[in-house]
Amino acid sequence: MTTANGALGFPERFVWGSATAAYQIEGAASLDGKGPSVWDTFSHAPGNVRGGDTGDIACDAYHRYREDVALMAELGLKDYRFSISWPRVQPGGRGPANSKGLDYYRALLDELAGHGIAATVTLYHWDLPQELQNDGGWAVRDTAERFAEYTAICAEALGDRVARWITLNEPQVVANNGYRHGQHAPGLRDADAAAAATHHQLLGHGLATQALRARGAAEVGITLDLHPVQVLGDGRAGDVEGARLITEAMVNGLFLDPVLQGRYPVHAPAAMLPPPALVAGGDLATISQRLDFLGVNYYSPIFLRAGDPADLRRNEEPARSGVPGVVEYRPDELERTTMGWLVDADGLYEILQEVSKQAPGLPLYITENGRAAEDYVNPHGEVDDIERVRYLNTHLEAAARAIRDGVTLAGYFVWSLLDNFEWAWGYQKRFGIIYVDFGTQRRIPKSSARFYSDVVRANAVPRSAASA
Ligand code: FCB
Repeated sequence: MTTANGALGFPERFVWGSATAAYQIEGAASLDGKGPSVWDTFSHAPGNVRGGDTGDIACDAYHRYREDVALMAELGLKDYRFSISWPRVQPGGRGPANSKGLDYYRALLDELAGHGIAATVTLYHWDLPQELQNDGGWAVRDTAERFAEYTAICAEALGDRVARWITLNEPQVVANNGYRHGQHAPGLRDADAAAAATHHQLLGHGLATQALRARGAAEVGITLDLHPVQVLGDGRAGDVEGARLITEAMVNGLFLDPVLQGRYPVHAPAAMLPPPALVAGGDLATISQRLDFLGVNYYSPIFLRAGDPADLRRNEEPARSGVPGVVEYRPDELERTTMGWLVDADGLYEILQEVSKQAPGLPLYITENGRAAEDYVNPHGEVDDIERVRYLNTHLEAAARAIRDGVTLAGYFVWSLLDNFEWAWGYQKRFGIIYVDFGTQRRIPKSSARFYSDVVRANAVPRSAASA
């Protein structure tokens, strides 16, 4: 749909929001009965997070949520995706609820409702109660059962105020960064634990979905980070196409296939699959029960080309698939963010098309999309983040094109509302459309906040220079 001024329109009732996660913004790490999470433990251990940063204070959203909701309302945002901190609700991950923890989320939800902003609530955005980690974390089956119990507590206490529930955020990152490679909490480097964490997170998703539906939840889904995998060149030298299938299974299929089709992908390396002894009869049916929507987080694509991993050329890296004669490649013509992530709006279009093929008609939400940039307050007191404006413009155009071409995209949540604790990178990487001065907690909406606000109000995205 093109509007009179050439802008690309979005469907009526398209959900426009912004996203955050509890550990990244709340602070109040041990206030009002909150127990420690794996991220509290991990960030406090020297050497794990850049500069020794922790989420102890973060954006102090625990105390400043009213100001943040007011800012969202000023921007005209319709929906807020935030996450609940499990150890705020159940300090040790088991047993009765900590009523003060629930009170905080009730107050936040009421504040949102008072401003006409709907809530999309993530139940697990990586902050597992430390006590559960001490008993094995996601590497043990019991954690999936505990997750369903915690979900039931949240659904009963907060369900009347929540528009849609997201069980897990990016279980792929938890399994790989947390359990396999150790850059994230709990900091393990254990391939068996990673394979087990893959299955138990998925099972937790399935059990939590049942717990939510049994308590009348209207919309339940899961958020996966998805990565289009593209082959460059003619793909003839080396087995580049074979490498593509394996890479896709590793980064997408391992989570997408069980959820959508009730099976693990045939192309995944055996070492990444949960051993059959861990997969009880009925697990895959539990995992693949009907979804109301799928949340897609999109940041960057993966490119493969023929090459020699033992003799890497400029912009090449060894391929994670391990297939001989194939390398991963970062094309020179694509911009990189301060995270080193490639900027490629076409990748968003492609991954939306790909998921649509696999799950025709399933409503999709982009539950995260955004970029880090070198933001600073200029002498006029403004943050003119032109790179982020351009990023949002081109990615929203890609989303509009996908809708035009038949993708059932129902909403978009920009990552992030606020600059925040960017995991192992600490506060050094800024993703917000609102700048946070962490010394004073002052919030300054950036140029991108104004741009996004205009898009939301018009329900249309202007044509970018790239497409004009
Ligand atoms: C995603 C996470 C989110 C944020 C962005 C930049 O992987 O879900 O919390 O850190 O990356």
